[in-house]
Amino acid sequence: MVVRDIFRLASVRRCGKQVVVVPRRTISGPAVTLPDVKAGKGTQNGSDANSTSSNGPRGLVSPIKYASRLVEGRALREDVWSVFTAVNLPPSCIHLGQGDMNFAPPDWAREGAEEALRSTKGNHYAHQKGLPRLRKAIQQYCGNRFHGRELDTESEILVTNGANEGEYATFTAFIEPGDEVIIFEPFYDAYLQGIIFNGGIPVYVPLHPSPGESGKLCKPAWTLDLDELRRSVTPRTKMIVLNTPHNPLGKVFTRTELEGIAELADKHNLLIMSDEVYEHLVYNGDHVRFASLPGMWERTITAGSAGKMFAGTGWRVGWVIGPPELILPVYATSMRIVLCANTPMQHAAAAGLEQADARGFFAKQREEYMERMAILSDAFERLGISYTRPEGGYFIMADIGNLRWPSDYPFPPNVQNRRRDFYASWFIAMEVGVSSIPVTDFYCDTSASIGENYLRFSFAKDLDTLRAAGERLQGLKKYLQ
Ligand SMILES: Cc1ncc(COP(=O)(O)O)c(C=O)c1O
Repeated sequence: MVVRDIFRLASVRRCGKQVVVVPRRTISGPAVTLPDVKAGKGTQNGSDANSTSSNGPRGLVSPIKYASRLVEGRALREDVWSVFTAVNLPPSCIHLGQGDMNFAPPDWAREGAEEALRSTKGNHYAHQKGLPRLRKAIQQYCGNRFHGRELDTESEILVTNGANEGEYATFTAFIEPGDEVIIFEPFYDAYLQGIIFNGGIPVYVPLHPSPGESGKLCKPAWTLDLDELRRSVTPRTKMIVLNTPHNPLGKVFTRTELEGIAELADKHNLLIMSDEVYEHLVYNGDHVRFASLPGMWERTITAGSAGKMFAGTGWRVGWVIGPPELILPVYATSMRIVLCANTPMQHAAAAGLEQADARGFFAKQREEYMERMAILSDAFERLGISYTRPEGGYFIMADIGNLRWPSDYPFPPNVQNRRRDFYASWFIAMEVGVSSIPVTDFYCDTSASIGENYLRFSFAKDLDTLRAAGERLQGLKKYLQ
């Protein structure tokens, strides 16, 4: 009973809800008091706001000690999503923090699920590799862009519960305790838990902001220092996690950067997990699949997401693609984690992919995102702060280095003692009613200072919402130095 309550609390917190009253349970017999949630060995992260939080697991008492990987993977601490969740912010706030779209998936894709739900079979387990219909649709969508021929639907495509689960299953399939996995900072946060829960050691390589042209507020993409990457490879390196287009930077890795990574992968026999969930949102030129580089198909697992493609992030449908010898181990772990992906929503994804080309969907969607991006960029231009020009995806990084707030401004305990970006994000949300995401949570402590003057704003929102947010942001002018 006690244990169940604790787990319920943990999961509620992950969903971003604020738990106000936590009943303190008393039990008889020897008890284990849940420790303060502090970063553990190997995370290189010492600052944990949760130790001062009132809604964390502190004070709960359990007879059962939970796994230390939860602490090491920062899984119980109050993360950025919990601090900047809608319930903590003013009700009228415009939410550009979370990446969620505020528009619907296309009806013709959604109908795939509706039809499936009306049938009998569409309500039952799907094949563990994914519905044959969806695997066929993915094959057709990918064409011969991976390795010069069509993908094999039986051995080279695995449907997963969103890209997230496919990535987790990949970590589970390949990481041995003590293996080092290189991730680029700032990183999509789920990588950290995926690596640590599976006994791996994250090794962080920061991406660096570009100074850009002086006098221009719009800055080019952040860059990878290949020498820094080379220096981070050791005999224990097993894997590099690549994310292009990148969340949160909007960066599309250049061919030189990709070739540099490929050279290292080849030289040191590394596995590459290439997270390409924003592949359909590349704004200049074509998306370059890492697996299509010479010699890389054999050592790459590529993750994709129907949720990102069709504004259906709640569908939880994604996939991993790779050679049979890499996909089979992921199939083996994925099947044990989730059994199979959600059947009706796989039909929605299949209907989407089957019809997207004929409807010119992806080209049109890209234009719509570019229009959204232009509104938000214009807001930063008018405000007079620097921002990165996204090359892909739907996030803009704004440089809040010149923002100053009153020294007596009231910040809540879960923002105090965090880095500058947490204060700035809180101040902007409270002062002008636009939420954003501070990015230092996506860094290890050693390099977090690179990110502390940046906030991530999502433009996966309808035009009116973005225009309203852009107007509100002008209210920050008086706080710029
Ligand atoms: C870089 C990256 N990878 C993976 C995911 C998760 O994708 P999915 O919703 O398909 O699990 C996200 C979601 O925000 C993401 O930004």
